[in-house]
Amino acid sequence: QKQERKFRIGFSQCTGTDNWRRMMLSGIRRELAFHPGTELLYKDANDNNQLQIQQVRELLTQNIDLLMVSPNEAQPLTQVVEEAFTKGIPVIVIDRKTASQFYTSFVGADNFGIGKMAGEYVGRTLHGKGKVIEVIGRPGSTPAIARQQGFAAGLAQYPGITMLAQVYGNWLKDDASKQLLTIKEKLPGADLVFAHNDLMAMGAHEVYEKLGIGKKVTFIGVDGLPGPGGGMQFVSDQLLDATLLYPTGGEEAVQTAFKILNGEPFNKENILQTLIIDSSNVHPLQLQADKINEQQRDIEKQQGLLEAQQATYKSQTTLLYITVTA
Ligand code: FRU
Repeated sequence: QKQERKFRIGFSQCTGTDNWRRMMLSGIRRELAFHPGTELLYKDANDNNQLQIQQVRELLTQNIDLLMVSPNEAQPLTQVVEEAFTKGIPVIVIDRKTASQFYTSFVGADNFGIGKMAGEYVGRTLHGKGKVIEVIGRPGSTPAIARQQGFAAGLAQYPGITMLAQVYGNWLKDDASKQLLTIKEKLPGADLVFAHNDLMAMGAHEVYEKLGIGKKVTFIGVDGLPGPGGGMQFVSDQLLDATLLYPTGGEEAVQTAFKILNGEPFNKENILQTLIIDSSNVHPLQLQADKINEQQRDIEKQQGLLEAQQATYKSQTTLLYITVTA
């Protein structure tokens, strides 16, 4: 096996507490297992722009060979990410963008496309007629801006559908619920709620349930995570009517990172695929996700065995060496 130089990668994550971000991180770690000796310096900014700026600055003093970053909000993080880039450190932007073109590579889905796909799906589901509420993500984050624009573009093809209200849920379930309660009198008039992620869609669903007005309302989210507490489960439990898959890009980001670090050709824009998940396809998708998960666990088990064997082998050869040279 070809010996690779050992690299140090900094990763600045806007927040680390939700399952989607956890899945991204485990994807990153899984892919890094193919590059033993790589150091990952991980920072979680807890939804805070100032903290994230500080954390990126800190990473820049720690001799990193490459920076991966998912900016909480675009404008506030632009300067520091540009600083990294102009210092000559390759920058991979994941999922959320800055306001600048100064980055080495982007990995993530097309958020305008996701919004537009959602708008067109809403148009078909409501047969071109009805009232909609939109729960938007964090105002300054690029997926929220792009999903909102895309959703408007999708709905524009259906003049019989009107936007009853828009609220900002900041990507968080509790914020979504709170904001919806501030427009309580409008809620019964909606036929459908589109939220920019599944967590906020679930917040909306719960508000409607609590008020006893949720029976005929359609709820749509984004993310479609597999496993317990994920969007696929919500759809198969009929809590949400649909969700749009938003891949985390963890593995792809690491693959791109090593192409850059090893001087191999890479794409500047790496656009991940999406798809609508609803009652028509959720079950085969869940089966497929479970299978992948099972295989993943097997791989990890094998890796563990291999490492244990290597450790035994190493201690035996040292012992042999000591005996021979004694
Ligand atoms: C996770 C998340 C996802 C959303 C994405 C947008 O932190 O809020 O639910 O799709 O970030 O950046």
